[in-house]
Amino acid sequence: MFEGKGWGDLFLEDSRNQAFNQVILDVINEKMVNLHRRVPYVQPGGKTLQLSITGSFFRENEQIAGIVVILHDVTEIQLLHDREKQVLREKHRLERERAEGLTLLATAVAHQIRNPVMSIGGFAMRILNKMDENSSIAVYLKNILSDAERLEAIVRVVSEYTRIPAAKPVQVSIAAILEKEMAQLQAKAAELSMRVTWSLALSVVEFAVDPALFRRAIYEVLLNAMEFSKGNEVSVTIFLSEGQNGLLMEIVDNGAGISEKDMPYVFDPFFTTKAVGVGMGLCLVKRIVGEHGGDVRIDSEPGKGTKVIMGFPDQAPVPV
Ligand SMILES: Nc1ncnc2c1ncn2[C@@H]1O[C@H](COP(=O)(O)OP(=O)(O)OP(=O)(O)O)[C@@H](O)[C@H]1O
Ligand SMILES: [Mg+2]
Repeated sequence: MFEGKGWGDLFLEDSRNQAFNQVILDVINEKMVNLHRRVPYVQPGGKTLQLSITGSFFRENEQIAGIVVILHDVTEIQLLHDREKQVLREKHRLERERAEGLTLLATAVAHQIRNPVMSIGGFAMRILNKMDENSSIAVYLKNILSDAERLEAIVRVVSEYTRIPAAKPVQVSIAAILEKEMAQLQAKAAELSMRVTWSLALSVVEFAVDPALFRRAIYEVLLNAMEFSKGNEVSVTIFLSEGQNGLLMEIVDNGAGISEKDMPYVFDPFFTTKAVGVGMGLCLVKRIVGEHGGDVRIDSEPGKGTKVIMGFPDQAPVPV
C-alpha cells in the first residue's frame, strides 16, 4: 500500500496521524531498536486503519545505516476485539440486571426474617436461664437457640452479600493485602491448632482492585483452604501473574479436594459440606470477582487438593 512512496507521502500533514508520525520520529530521535506500538493511521482517502508498527534504528560502523519500519494492518483484528468487548459488556449488563433483581428480593427476605429470629433466640435464652440446665425442656431450648443462631448467621451473610457495592478499583499492593490476610488467618489457625504453610509466588506486586472487596474474597478462599484440609496441616500457595487479560491469581491447597458430584454446586448460595456452615463463601467470592469484571473457576482433585483461579481484567467494564 505504501510501496514506492517517499517519506513525504507517509508523513502527511494530517494532525490525526500524529501518533503514527511520532513512532518514526521516536525511532530516529531516540535511536530505538524494536520499538513497537499500535497506532491509528488515516489514509489520504479518509479511511482510518489500525497499524501495528515495529521500528528499528540501524548503525553500521558507527554510521547511521537507516531505519526499518514494519507495518501490519490490524484493523480487522481490532474490529473483532471491539465487537468481542461489546458482547462481553452486554453480557455483564444483563447479568448485573438479573443480580440486582435477586438482590432486592434477598434484601427484603433477610429484613423480614431478622426480627422474628432475634426474638425467638432471645426468648429461648431467657427461658433457658430460668430452667434447670439438665431438664429435657432445656435440651429442646438449646436446639431452638442453636437453630436461631444459625438463621441469624444466614441473615447476616445474606445482608452482607446484598450490600456488596460496585467495585472501585485503585492501584494497590497486592502482596501487602495477601500478607495481611495470611496473618489474620494464621491467628485463626493457631486457635484451631492447625499448621498452615503459606507460600507466595508473585510476579506482580501492584494491581488495580477494590481493596476492601478484594480482601474479603481472598479471606474466604484462604479460609476454605484451611477448613477443608485433610488433617491438621495444609500447604497453601498463591501464584500471581500478569497476562494479556490482566491479573491472574491462583490459590492452590493440598487439602481434601472437591468430589465430582459436589463440583457443579460449590458457587451456589447455601451449598456447604460443613456440618455447620452457611455456604455463602464462594458465592461472595464469585460476586466480588464479577464486580471487578473478572471470573473465577475451580479445579480440584479429590484427596489431592484444590486450585481456585481468579482473573481480574486490567479495567473494570465501563458502566453502560
Ligand atoms: N479449598 C477447598 N477444598 C475443598 N473443598 C472446598 C474448598 N473450597 C470450597 N470447597 C467446597 O465448596 C463448598 C462451598 O464453599 P463455600 O465457601 O461457599 O461454603 P462453606 O465454606 O461450606 O461455608 P461458609 O464459607 O459460608 O462458611 C464447601 O462446603 C466445600 O465442600
Ligand atoms: Mg467457605
